[in-house]
Amino acid sequence: MDHQPWWAGSVGYEVYVSSWADSTGDGLGDLAGITAHLPHLADLGVDLLWLTPFFPSPLADHGYDVSDYRGVDPRFGTMADLEALLARAGELGLRVIADLVVNHSSDQHPWFTASRSSREDAKRDWYTWRDPEPDGSEPNNWAAHFGGPAWTLDEATGQYYLHLFLPEQPDLNWENPQVAQAVDDILDFWFDKGLSGVRIDTAHLFVKHPDLPDNPPASGGKIASLNPDWSALEHVYDVDQDDNLRVHRRWRTVADRHDALLVGETYVLDPQRLARYVPDDGLNIAFFFGAAESGWEPEALAAMLREAVDAVDGRARLGLVLSSHDVPRAVSRFGGGPLGRRRALALHTVLLTLPGLPFLYQGEELGLENGFVPPEQAQDPVARLAPAASRDVARTPMPWAPGPGLGFTTGTPWLPDGGRTEHDTVAVQKGDPGSPLARYRDLVRLRRQTPALHSDGVGWLEHPGLLAYSRGNGAVVVLANLSDSPVRADLPAGYEVALVSSGEKVVDGVVPACAAVVLTRA
Ligand code: NOJ
Repeated sequence: MDHQPWWAGSVGYEVYVSSWADSTGDGLGDLAGITAHLPHLADLGVDLLWLTPFFPSPLADHGYDVSDYRGVDPRFGTMADLEALLARAGELGLRVIADLVVNHSSDQHPWFTASRSSREDAKRDWYTWRDPEPDGSEPNNWAAHFGGPAWTLDEATGQYYLHLFLPEQPDLNWENPQVAQAVDDILDFWFDKGLSGVRIDTAHLFVKHPDLPDNPPASGGKIASLNPDWSALEHVYDVDQDDNLRVHRRWRTVADRHDALLVGETYVLDPQRLARYVPDDGLNIAFFFGAAESGWEPEALAAMLREAVDAVDGRARLGLVLSSHDVPRAVSRFGGGPLGRRRALALHTVLLTLPGLPFLYQGEELGLENGFVPPEQAQDPVARLAPAASRDVARTPMPWAPGPGLGFTTGTPWLPDGGRTEHDTVAVQKGDPGSPLARYRDLVRLRRQTPALHSDGVGWLEHPGLLAYSRGNGAVVVLANLSDSPVRADLPAGYEVALVSSGEKVVDGVVPACAAVVLTRA
């Protein structure tokens, strides 16, 4: 207990910077807008804010293509705005982490401009360049996540460069010690500035097999993908290489000097493989995306969560999420409408009471479904590849208040407002004790006030039809009924009901359908 890190028991909240709050009227969210709305997060009771990239960027992938790792894009504000945000967050008791996007930079980053300028440039080896095959084709058969080959030919220097995402996102070469040193310095810079940690983009991708061999054809997709070119291959040599841990370990020594948190975006769905990413000297937290990649499959969801938590021996080392800016919203995936909301709340109650670091994605506290974006207004580069896979549906503006612009902007939002109703808005839900916002606030408060939920360890309980477990040596018992029918449970004696996710009462020991009951020892 003495050695609990500062994030033990925290609840994270992801802010997709472009879509949270616009202070200037240009239709794009910004840092000053976030600062103005921080009280919403303090009210909700979360502790840890993750800001998606706000660095200078051509925005080819909405900021996940960074052209200056130490700045703020003028469209999102200034460094002074960021400092003001951090100061206000501190006053409200909120910690802030930001994205570290260094599998790739933007092709407009001066490092890449230099690298591509000639084969002899000192930065040539900061990226991965290879000669064409004798017939002029790509050096291997690797695919890019967002479609097409993972190689683009630079005509001027006659070599291909590697990019696992867009051609505008060339992959840095993590075999080059100068790259590693440059990124250490960037981490020091941001931790000195006041960030409490980083969310590490694509934490399972940095290191590739040194020989860059062809990947074999797929035998059964273990790693999620938006794109058939990617899914056609077994990703043996490009992703999830053991040596990624070398990079994380190096960063851990930097982070520990600042008592900073390393959260990895580890898109590795197999819990056993994922568990490799949380050794004692590497990432503090590895995201588990199983539930974010799932529709409403109650038995599979319960089994995968149990397997994932067991794979890390019940330690609070997994980032637990139902959604993010990269996947359709959970309420929609779980059936939509009141039923989808009810299911998402039941499962969030599970995530907030299992050992781990849960994150809510903006708008989940409002029970939001996917936003509607007409195809001709699509912004996500993925929409060009596969309109049905567009991530825009999760990225429409945060609905703060009814009316044009939704309180998000006084101008025209960069993405359509998504078709929100007044009941979706913060302003309306605030006054309604039965709203999703009220229930999420209760859930977050319960987690905060219950020390048994802050430490490691879980005891699985066998209750037919329920996902059931205890925390803190029985101080808390959770009975989650993910099925569509009520389940009668033998409630253990000596406990009281602290929360029912649906807001209903537990009568005669019956756990309502699609609801989770949290019991605390009386
Ligand atoms: C993961 C990010 O969450 C996603 O939005 C981005 O497109 C890719 N990494 C590439 O950086």
